[in-house]
Amino acid sequence: MENEKKNKLNERAEVLKDFFGGNEGEEISAELLHRLFQFEELMIKYRSAIREVTTKLEILNDELSAFTERNPIESIQSRIKRPYSIAGKLRKQNYPLTVESISEHLNDVAGVRVVCPFIDDIYDVADMLLKQDDVRLIARKDYIQNPKENGYRSLHLIIETPVYFSTGKELIRVEIQIRTVAMDFWASLEHQIRYKNNSPEVREIAGELKECADTIAQTDVKMQQLRLRIASKDGKK
Ligand code: GTP
Ligand code: MG
Repeated sequence: MENEKKNKLNERAEVLKDFFGGNEGEEISAELLHRLFQFEELMIKYRSAIREVTTKLEILNDELSAFTERNPIESIQSRIKRPYSIAGKLRKQNYPLTVESISEHLNDVAGVRVVCPFIDDIYDVADMLLKQDDVRLIARKDYIQNPKENGYRSLHLIIETPVYFSTGKELIRVEIQIRTVAMDFWASLEHQIRYKNNSPEVREIAGELKECADTIAQTDVKMQQLRLRIASKDGKK
């Protein structure tokens, strides 16, 4: 068992060396191995928290789509931040590159993205999730009410939720981005075109990207109104 663990970690050691130090070709020290093991353990925790949150969302969606005409969630995606990006973010903010530092300073190692059909669904899903007594809100950023300068829209929640391990309960943080299909469409394409790229060419098209975001936002509002019109005729909400 211990040996198996060691082999698995050895395999990943090369990739993670950049994060934890050590030189190329150098034998992996017991100290490095220990840190790698801690890192792996922490990533398992984040992966588990993602599963908890995803299950909560799936349950809400199943329940609502079974008993009403609503299907408030179109899709759920998730990801764990890669070691390279974790290291980059810690370095940028001048935090030490240690495992403790990750859970202390980063809120977005575990990320869940929820795509909803309509704007109202976003707030409904957020409310239903935050009402649960094992979900604690750490931070909320409403980029729908207050879009970013570039036109980006989404509701961002940082939450903390308990996960039960052999050693007991741990509170794990998860970043949840909730957006409409239309917002997701814009964000995905914009990400490919320009996110975190600051070249002059990209700055030139910023205005046009923003225009696209605003057009899309208007369409979202229009679709929402159409749905409300039909729902009120049906006597449904
Ligand atoms: P990060 O350091 O990027 O995590 O930013 P932050 O900690 O200030 O948080 P923020 O809420 O602004 O953004 C978190 C995440 O939202 C990002 O990692 C992206 O996934 C997404 N996001 C934020 N702004 C943009 C944007 O302008 N375009 C796109 N495509 N995605 C964005
Ligand atoms: Mg991030």
